[in-house]
Amino acid sequence: MRMSHAADLWWKNAVIYCLDVETFFDGDGDGCGDFNGLAQRVGYLDEMGVTCIWLMPFYPTPDRDDGYDITDFYGVDPRLGTNGELVEFLRVARDRGIRVIADLVVNHTSDKHPWFQSARSSPDSPHRDWYVWRDEPPADGPKGVVFPDQEKSLWEYDEKAGQYYLHRFYKHQPDLNVANPAVRDEIARVLGYWLHLGLSGFRVDAVPFLLETGGALDAEDLPDPHEYLRDLRAFLNRRNGEAVILGEVNLPYPDTMRFFGDEDGDELTMCFDFIGMQRLYLSLARGKAAPLAEALRERPEQPKDTHWATFVRNHDELTLDKLSEEERQEVFEAFGPEKRMQLYDRGLRRRLPSMLDGDMDRIRLVYSLLFSMPGTPVLFYGEEIGMAEELSVEGRNAVRTPMQWSDDDNGGFSTADPEKLPAPMVQGEFGPEKVNVVSQLRDPDSLLSWMKLLIRRYRQCPELAWGRYEVLEHDAESVLAHRADQDGGTVVAAHNFADEPVDVTLRLDRLEPGDRLVDLLSDGTTPVEDGEVRLSLGRYGCRWLRVVKPGEVFVP
Ligand code: GLC
Repeated sequence: MRMSHAADLWWKNAVIYCLDVETFFDGDGDGCGDFNGLAQRVGYLDEMGVTCIWLMPFYPTPDRDDGYDITDFYGVDPRLGTNGELVEFLRVARDRGIRVIADLVVNHTSDKHPWFQSARSSPDSPHRDWYVWRDEPPADGPKGVVFPDQEKSLWEYDEKAGQYYLHRFYKHQPDLNVANPAVRDEIARVLGYWLHLGLSGFRVDAVPFLLETGGALDAEDLPDPHEYLRDLRAFLNRRNGEAVILGEVNLPYPDTMRFFGDEDGDELTMCFDFIGMQRLYLSLARGKAAPLAEALRERPEQPKDTHWATFVRNHDELTLDKLSEEERQEVFEAFGPEKRMQLYDRGLRRRLPSMLDGDMDRIRLVYSLLFSMPGTPVLFYGEEIGMAEELSVEGRNAVRTPMQWSDDDNGGFSTADPEKLPAPMVQGEFGPEKVNVVSQLRDPDSLLSWMKLLIRRYRQCPELAWGRYEVLEHDAESVLAHRADQDGGTVVAAHNFADEPVDVTLRLDRLEPGDRLVDLLSDGTTPVEDGEVRLSLGRYGCRWLRVVKPGEVFVP
């Protein structure tokens, strides 16, 4: 396919890497990761093949929700550095051709934010209507607390204000009122500020909640929340034509489509595929391709120039909320049977390698899927080396431990005393003595080397990420086989979810006599006979194959 397309719509063939500056690399030895440290590690990310870094919140914060509770949308938390150091990091990333996006958390602020402090101080405060107030919690307001272990209600009474305020998340995170035009203007100003400093877009936190205003102001509710999202997108692209907004929208597929702006594609540039992610785990638990295959068949085609973002794990609990109760129990049983591994009755506070008992074939299979399935892959730091969680750390923070660079003290993350670190290092078989960057860089058989190979091939084959795809029919129930076609190029991928080897025969239409399939992850060529190809896959085996025409010279 035409590489110029892939370069233009960069987000459709990107490799996005999510990290928290706080836990990535400590450049000044005080125990906390910082922008200086991150700048030193940009080369590592570039050499791995990362094309876009997603920064988790780095803004000033009381840090009661790992930085998702913000007190100044225009600043850098002093623990992480200064605005100047952030800009230096952006320059280093730019020199490597890496784009940077950041979390935009504007559903709420911290209750310590000066806007909220002003709002609660008096009904006449200019910021009063920046939040959502009610005399009584409304019977018909939004339902469902997000953190059921901590919160019982979405409304909290504030003594000083003499009213209740809406908080979708923790009570220390009052929701901003986007029905108020002054709030919408301010959000645009925040976007504009960071775009001007050189960001290429945002991962927008909790989009469905952001658009909802709690029914508190009745007549003043946003008449059409999606019009607001359209306005935001238009503003973004007026300021920077290549900037993107990648939305956290964990809803069924048809509802998620609305956040792309349906067929117009004029709202979010990208949406995470939460459904496909959850079905992937069901497939893994069952050793059968069907759940994931069904998700891929059901997944609506994204509107032109927008894209799905695929992922295996992120910084939150592995949410399984869109599976049925029985399906969720199946996954719990397979990958997190103990209560201490589970969270909010809907998810697992674990990373992949420990869930798969360190089975390297199976771990490789999952990342091969991630990079070959249609959509833009998003990695969470440490996935590339197979980091696991530390269950002694509370809640979701179990998966947010410091990056493991080497087998030195603190995993080479920091030279400070261990008690100064933002979280303890992982202990045991997945700790830095066994799992770290330095040793994997030297080992051609490491997970990191595998990841690099996958990324290289993924970038060479944009058909995979954004071609027209088709899940192929066959009779091996453990195998997911799909093909991706774009501008005359065809790539076929096959993945075996079972613990034992399997052979599968695939029918490949629209191929011509003499066409052959060349393996992209190993050596080998397989002839296509009468439009059919027979493939062998090892236990948890995977193959990517490019269709090569007779006489065509193939350079991998
Ligand atoms: C999103 C984030 C999560 C955070 C919450 C509140 O769901 O992914 O980490 O706690 O929003 O901002």
